[in-house]
Formats: sequence, C-alpha cells, structure tokens
Amino acid sequence: MDLQGASAIVTGGASGLGEATTRRLHGAGAAVTILDRNAEQGEALAKELGGQANFAPADVTKYEECQAGVAQAAANGPLRVAVNCAGMGIAVRTINRDNTPHDPAAFKFLIDINLIGTFNVMTLAASSMATNDPDPGGDRGVIINTASVAAFDGQIGQLAYSASKGAVVGMTLPAARDLSAVNIRVNTIAPGLMDTPLLAMLPEPARASLAASVLYPKRLGIPDEFANLAMAIIDNGYLNGETIRLDGGIRMQPK
Ligand SMILES: NC(=O)c1ccc[n+]([C@@H]2O[C@H](COP(=O)([O-])OP(=O)(O)OC[C@H]3O[C@@H](n4cnc5c(N)ncnc54)[C@H](O)[C@@H]3O)[C@@H](O)[C@H]2O)c1
Repeated sequence: MDLQGASAIVTGGASGLGEATTRRLHGAGAAVTILDRNAEQGEALAKELGGQANFAPADVTKYEECQAGVAQAAANGPLRVAVNCAGMGIAVRTINRDNTPHDPAAFKFLIDINLIGTFNVMTLAASSMATNDPDPGGDRGVIINTASVAAFDGQIGQLAYSASKGAVVGMTLPAARDLSAVNIRVNTIAPGLMDTPLLAMLPEPARASLAASVLYPKRLGIPDEFANLAMAIIDNGYLNGETIRLDGGIRMQPK
C-alpha cells in the first residue's frame, strides 16, 4: 500500500510499540494522527516528527473522544491505516491471597481500555475507511490490533489482561469477515516481551531474567520490530483475519 497522501491513526501512539509504529508510518509518507491520553508525550512526538504528524488527545474508553480523533485523522487524507496500541496491564489473581475475590471494578477497568478501546477505534476507523476509493491493490484500508501472548499463555495474575487480549484475538476474524465486503483487512499482532517503557522500569536482573526466558533470540523485543511487522501487514495484501505472535518463540510459564 502506498501511504503517500494517505492518513493513518495510531492509538497509544505516544509511547512504546505505538510510538515506533508512528515513526515508521510517518517515514513511509503517511499523515499520522497520534491518538493518546498522554498529551505531553503525544504533542512532543508530533512536534519532533513535524510534517503531517498530529496529535489527537483522547482516551480510547471515551467514544466521543475516539470519534473526534478519527475525524481529525480523516481530515488529513483518506484514512487507510488504523493501528490500535493503547493498552495496559494489571496483576490481580482470581482470588487474592486472603481468598477474597478479584475486584470486579479492576476487571472492568482493564476490559474497558484494552477491549472496548480497541472496538471503539476499530469500528470508527472502519466506517471512515469504507468511504475511501480502493488503492491500486484493491484495499480501502488496513486495521491492526494489538493483543499479547497472554491471550494464549496467560500467567498467574493475568485474568483480566488475558481476557481482554483474548477478546482482541477473538474479534480479528469476525471483523475481517464483516469488513471483507468493503475491502478492509484486519489483523492482530500478539507481542511477547517487548522493551517498552513498561519493562524499562524493571531492575536489570529482572530484565535479564525475562530475556533469558525467550527461546531465541534471548532478548526482549525491540519496539521497532513490532512496527516493522505492522508495516509488513500493511504491505502484504494477502494477509487477513490473522493473529501473528511476535515473541522470539516464547511460551509463557505460569509465573
Ligand atoms: N510491552 C510489552 O511487552 C507488550 C507485550 C504484549 C502486548 N503489549 C501491548 O502492546 C500495547 C502497547 O504497549 P506498550 O508496551 O507500548 O505500552 P506503553 O505504556 O509504552 O504505551 C501505551 C500507550 O497507550 C496510551 N494509553 C493507555 N491507555 C490509554 C487510553 N485509555 N486512551 C488513550 N491512550 C492510552 C499510553 O498513554 C501510552 O502512550 C498494549 O496494548 C500492551 O498491552 C505490550
């Protein structure tokens, strides 16, 4: 897909995997809208990139803010790419150490961000993409969602996180089927242990231990490796309805 003159939106685009993807999309000539709730980082990145990069302050759990962000992106050219990276994790067990049940509010909080947030921007972006003329390859648009290996190998304390990411995997095929009528492809990336600000906060021994648990190569993933896969999905017109693990072959252990 030729991204010159096209618009792209990246949720969570101000940090980590989203930031790396923003940089790649911008480098490929797209007008990139960084949709993020972190205004300081989002504005700074848009300013650093210059050109057609722009920041849309929004919380993905707030539908009206997502609508405004997607409209802002579509005003910069035909919206052809939407990458959903906004997300986070919590560590809470099904029952706590004192046998009290998992806080239901914490469960709903995470589902709201990781699942409903992805649903919000995916559906709004698809609605905009459906009005595009097809590109020379036939695509009107490409949507990439971010799950996690925790969708498959959820660890102790990942009840909510695995539920949210499993649901993102679950949406992939039906969304691709729904959107096949309008030539929009939908794929999901399920990353393993990626070296983003989240893991950068850990002490070095903990980072080294995580790196050693990867099959090969024995290191954390680089955010640009995620962005590289996102660009490959955009480029490869035959990739649709699929979830791709990006994890150095890791299979997460119970803890
Ligand atoms: N880093 C990893 O090892 C890893 C592994 C598997 C999956 N993931 C997933 O990848 C995605 C990106 O993670 P990351 O490591 O780059 O994290 P990150 O914290 O570096 O970036 C996440 C970005 O999302 C934004 N964000 C969070 N909640 C938001 C909301 N409600 N509305 C708008 N913006 C919001 C944050 O402000 C931040 O800029 C997440 O969905 C995460 O679950 C990460």
